[in-house]
Amino acid sequence: MVPAGDAGGSIPFSEFVDRALYDPITGFYATGGRAGGRGDFLTSPEVGPLFGAVISRALDEWWHELGNPDPFVLVEIGAGPGTLARSIRFADPECAGVLLHVLVERTASQRLRHEEHLPGWVGERSGEDLLALTRRSLMGDGPVFVSAPEPPSSFNGIALANELLDNIAFDIVREHSGGDTIGLFDALEVASDADGVCEFVVRALDQSEDAPTRELAARVDSGGTGVWFPLQAQAIDWITDMRSRIGTGRLVVIDYAATTAQLAQRPDFGWMRTFQGHERGSHPLDSPGSQDITVDVALDQIQMNAPADVVESQSHFLTRFGIDELVAEGRRIWEANSHAPGLSEIRGRSRIREAEALLEGGGLGGFTVLQWVVAGKPDEANETGR
Ligand SMILES: C[S@@+](CC[C@H](N)C(=O)[O-])C[C@H]1O[C@@H](n2cnc3c(N)ncnc32)[C@H](O)[C@@H]1O
Repeated sequence: MVPAGDAGGSIPFSEFVDRALYDPITGFYATGGRAGGRGDFLTSPEVGPLFGAVISRALDEWWHELGNPDPFVLVEIGAGPGTLARSIRFADPECAGVLLHVLVERTASQRLRHEEHLPGWVGERSGEDLLALTRRSLMGDGPVFVSAPEPPSSFNGIALANELLDNIAFDIVREHSGGDTIGLFDALEVASDADGVCEFVVRALDQSEDAPTRELAARVDSGGTGVWFPLQAQAIDWITDMRSRIGTGRLVVIDYAATTAQLAQRPDFGWMRTFQGHERGSHPLDSPGSQDITVDVALDQIQMNAPADVVESQSHFLTRFGIDELVAEGRRIWEANSHAPGLSEIRGRSRIREAEALLEGGGLGGFTVLQWVVAGKPDEANETGR
């Protein structure tokens, strides 16, 4: 991939990231990058089926809150290879018979994996066909799973995105420090030489041409001038867009996150990481497409247009929806037959290890869960876990 524009020119860092991750031929995801034990990084659904079992409990509660609709639409965005869908199906929630699970995934190669081990999968849909499906009663024939390159334009139900926002392209900017230069910003862009070797170049944002980026950057509290910080315009737009597609329901996003001011304090762009084959990758500009590029989600930025109704840690969220009960149940199953364990016993014991990973404060448990409740807001909307 030649990342820069015209010879000698440079492209915004967000464009570089978008191409490096999602170019349909050379991008990281198009060339086989993915979540999972055999993939490049481990996410909560990939730790094991326990995460999906807890999400299933949350789904049941949200289904009841919405008045037990049929269909009950779950739009999972950034579904990756479909692991969470398989865990939800396995957990067999009370809402299963009316559950329409839409697996929205931008990368075609990952959508092709959805069919594997997922009875009830009906293929790929988009546009009006997808919309029609979200409006057809299932009358107990669910769960139905459908893949889609984009979310339905409108629906009632739940939109859920686990570790999606950290994979949405972002820019890197800083405010000029000192004197009478307040309000002027630089951005990092990417230039490449004839051999395709990339390097960062600093470009002062133009007063008029870059007005939207400058205005957004000026609204962000980065804790001081002169420090590079991630500017997540595309993630902000994504939140606004997803909320607008939901008639009644909620948008739930789970990710590693901190405020921009907290992120900006980290030395050496410590809020940006690369991954390849479960190892930390190299410099983000090295061999574009060969590694994942991720960013800690800036909490203040993604709530800029609308504050979330519920903000809590993943460990708080999973505890609220009964992870301890599921672990205790697993332990009982294991202990009742540990002398001659079958699959159920092994699964039961595995819940103990999975819960440790999912709840660990310095890891997955410290992730942030944000919920935006759309329309009829239930009581829980006022709860703030931290
Ligand atoms: C870090 S992976 C997480 C996968 C899965 N949710 C998990 O937790 O294991 C992010 C996924 O989001 C997908 N993605 C990125 N932007 C997207 C978008 N705008 N719509 C749908 N999928 C997207 C990527 O292709 C990738 O598969």
